[in-house]
Amino acid sequence: MNRLTLIAIAVLINILAISCSSNQQKDAENKQDTAAPPNLMKEAELLKGDNNGIGKFKDIQLTHPLDQAMIAKGQPIFDSKCSACHKTTDEKLVGPGWKGVTDRRTPEWIMNFITNTDVMLDSDLVAQKMMVTCMVRMPKQGLTDDEARQLLEFMRKNDGKN
Ligand code: HEC
Repeated sequence: MNRLTLIAIAVLINILAISCSSNQQKDAENKQDTAAPPNLMKEAELLKGDNNGIGKFKDIQLTHPLDQAMIAKGQPIFDSKCSACHKTTDEKLVGPGWKGVTDRRTPEWIMNFITNTDVMLDSDLVAQKMMVTCMVRMPKQGLTDDEARQLLEFMRKNDGKN
C-alpha cells in the first residue's frame, strides 16, 4: 500500500466517524460547557441552546394546549419540504432528526433558523457547528412566517408537548 492510499483510507475513516446525531452533539456541547475556560464562556453560553438565533423572531407566544389547526397545516409542509432531509425520530438523515429539537433550541431560534437559514448558517455558532457535523448546508426553504409557525407547532407535537 503506498502512502497516498493510506492517507485516503485515513480520511475515509475520519468521515465515517463523524456523526450528525443530535445526542452526540449535545454530549459534546455539555462537555465543552464544563471544560470551558473563562474566555470561552460566551461560546459555551451560546451552545447551551438558550440563544434565540439571528432574525426577526424575538418573542414567540406559544399556545397551550397545542394549536391543532396549525399542526394540521404543518404536517403536509413537513412531508413536502423537509422530510427528504429530516426524520421525526432522533435519527439523522441529511440533517438532524427532529426528536427533541424543541428542547435543545428555543422557539425563536427554530423560527429564525428556518426563515433566515443563510444568515444563521453564516453567523450563528450553533447552526455553524451543526453544519460542520452534517457536512451539508441546509438550503433556504422560502417559508412564510405562518408556515414556519405551523412547522414549529408540528415539532412541538412531535416532542410530546402540550
Ligand atoms: C437538503 C436537505 C434539507 C432540507 C430539505 C431541510 N433541511 Fe433542515 N437541516 C438540514 C441540515 C444539513 C441541517 C444541519 C445544519 C446544516 O448543516 O446546514 C438542518 C438543520 C435543521 C434544523 C435544526 C435542527 C437542530 O437539531 O437544531 C431545523 C429546525 C431544520 N433543519 C428545519 C427544517 C425545516 C422546517 C425544513 C423544511 C421546511 C428543512 N429543515 C428542510 C438539511 C435540510
